[in-house]
Order: sequence, then structure tokens, then C-alpha cells
Amino acid sequence: MRAIVITHNGNANVMKVEERPDPVVGQGEVLIRAKAAGLNFADILARQGLYPDTTAKPCVMGYETSGVIESVGNGVDQSWIGKPVIAMTRFGGQAELITVPAKQVFEKPENLSFEQGAAIPVNYLTAWALLVAIGGLKKDEAVLIHNAGGGVGLAALDIARHIGAKTFGTASASKHEFLIQRGLDHPIDYRNQDWLPVLMDLTKGRGVELAIDPLGGKNWKKTYRALRATGRMGVFGMSVASASGIAGKLRALKAIAQMPRFNPLRLMNSNKGVFGLHLGHMWREAEKVRGWTEEIMRGVAESWIRPYVDRAFPFDQIADAHRYIEERKNIGKIVLVP
Ligand SMILES: NC(=O)c1ccc[n+]([C@@H]2O[C@H](COP(=O)([O-])OP(=O)(O)OC[C@H]3O[C@@H](n4cnc5c(N)ncnc54)[C@H](OP(=O)(O)O)[C@@H]3O)[C@@H](O)[C@H]2O)c1
Repeated sequence: MRAIVITHNGNANVMKVEERPDPVVGQGEVLIRAKAAGLNFADILARQGLYPDTTAKPCVMGYETSGVIESVGNGVDQSWIGKPVIAMTRFGGQAELITVPAKQVFEKPENLSFEQGAAIPVNYLTAWALLVAIGGLKKDEAVLIHNAGGGVGLAALDIARHIGAKTFGTASASKHEFLIQRGLDHPIDYRNQDWLPVLMDLTKGRGVELAIDPLGGKNWKKTYRALRATGRMGVFGMSVASASGIAGKLRALKAIAQMPRFNPLRLMNSNKGVFGLHLGHMWREAEKVRGWTEEIMRGVAESWIRPYVDRAFPFDQIADAHRYIEERKNIGKIVLVP
């Protein structure tokens, strides 16, 4: 089978498509023939050598796939064979064939293409955890979604709109028109102006009840200042560090040096909360994550979950796919097709 391999740390040219032995399905597992695999920011950071969770290189990344079940292992119902599915994969997802535990597999809804299917797990589970499971967003609350035009950003927008929250989102100006069409109430161009005073103006000086921030570094300080009393801030990434080579390492060190240190007494006195999310560290809470997935699938059936695929790149164009994300060209999800 063909698989996308990060050969070593470096720029997009270190990506290769290689022949690998077909995986053998084990007890409690299914074998999936992929039709589409998700590409995530974590894959870019892994290639840059900035993602600590990666296995040793060379490695095949990929947290999600959508395809058809080819065979099942002992203990798995034979009726799964031939079914179109969506699956969460702990790496190895960017390959033609993948084995995964059956409990990480969901039947693909008929109204979604395989490409849309591969756009669901990481983006929507992350957004669900941030907004609903931990963030506790409620109707009429104000939510700030940073990088609203990215995969997680669009997913968060779908969920926030369904809840009935007022939505504020930072994004490159070129993405604003699309975001307004998707239902974002207030896009903010954070690349050409200081976004905090703009947000404070828009909220009449009050700020927001929930803010989700994947930028990291000193941006976390500002995002915290954007919270009103009862406000919660969810931190879940460090996009500001993204760069290949030594530049990435230096940016990561700078971001760590500039991030805020929270004092519990100050949190208490200002009635604010701070939480973190790392979906990749939720594997031991499989039942919880399954429950979130069921809610998301209900949203698909009810049409308020709308996975948006910007582009599908063939496996052979993996370097172009990485560059497309690094150059901030994507709106929503990028998927890879064998
Ligand atoms: N903790 C978790 O469990 C978890 C799960 C999923 C994702 N994440 C994190 O969430 C963030 C967004 O992920 P995503 O999948 O939504 O990514 P994405 O679809 O690739 O979107 C990322 C967007 O972020 C903006 N951006 C900001 N800094 C950037 C940079 N240095 N390089 C490129 N783009 C940059 C760009 O939007 P503009 O053009 O508007 O600036 C870009 O379109 C990443 O930091 C990722 O690591 C964390």
C-alpha cells in the first residue's frame, strides 16, 4: 500500500509517498481502505519538528480517515465489511490501508462525501470539547473564535451558531466574506490591526464569555484580557511557532517565554477561568469522545454540522498540501486522496 511519509524534520520537500507492507487486521480491529484522509496543522508542526507527540521519523502521520471497511478482526461484527466509515486514527491515517480499533469507527452518514467525512473527527471533536464539553457555551453568550477561517474555526462556528451564541472571529481579511456567508456575526482582521480594541468596541467594552485560542505565546495574554466576568479561555495550540528549521525552534522558545502565568488568586478575584485541550490526549476517555461524536453525527443529520472541504490534494501532491496550509491559503479543511 502507499503511505505518506515524513522522512525527517524539514520543509515540505521532506514529504514522500512510499510503498509500505499492507497492515494486518488484529483482534477487535477493522481494516479500512481509505478514500480520503484529513490533513491537520499538527501534521505541519510534526514535519517541522515542533510536535512532541510524533513517533520517531520516518513516520506516517494522520489522525483521521474516511473509507470502506475491507475486513474485520476477531471479535468484530462481520456486518461492518463493505460499510463506508469515518475513523479516528492514532497516526498512520495518511495511507491507503489503515487498521484501527472498531470502537474508533463510525458509519459515514449518506449525506456526506468521503472527503467531508475525513473533515469531521479532529476539527469537530476539538471544537465540541472547547465550546460544549469544557467551555460550556450558552445561548446569547459571546464567543471569540481565533483563526475562524481554519478547520477548527469553521467547526466552532457551526457549533456556536447552533447554541445561539454571538460570534466574533479573527481571520485574514481575505476570508471575511466567506465567514459572513457561513454565519459569523463579527469578523475581525487580526493581521492588519490590533484585534483587542476592535473586539472591546464591538462588545461595548464588556468582552466575551468564551474565547478559544490556538495561537499561543503573548496572544494568550491578550485573549485573557478579552474575557468579561464569568469568562473562560480555552488554549489548544501554538500556531505562532510554526516554521521550518531553526526559525521554528526559536519561535517556540519565544512563545513559551511570552505566555502568561496564571495566578489562582487572580483568577478567583476576576471570576475568570482558563482551561486547556489536547484532543490527542483523550484516547483513555474513549467513551466520552464517542458521546461527543454521537452529538456531532446528530448535527450532521440535522444539517447544522457542515464540514467544509476547501481542497482535496492527491497523495502525490502532499508537499503542495503542506505549503497551502503554511501559506494560510486554506479556508476550512484540506484532505488527501489516494
Ligand atoms: N489541542 C488540540 O487538540 C488541537 C486540535 C486541532 C487543532 N489544534 C490547533 O488549532 C490550530 C488550528 O488548527 P486547524 O486544523 O484549524 O488549522 P487550519 O485549518 O490549517 O487553519 C489554521 C489557520 O490559522 C491561521 N494561522 C495562524 N497562524 C498561522 C501560521 N503561523 N501558519 C499558518 N496559519 C496560521 C490561518 O488563518 P488566517 O489566515 O486567518 O490567519 C490558518 O488558515 C493549530 O494551532 C492546531 O495545532 C489543536
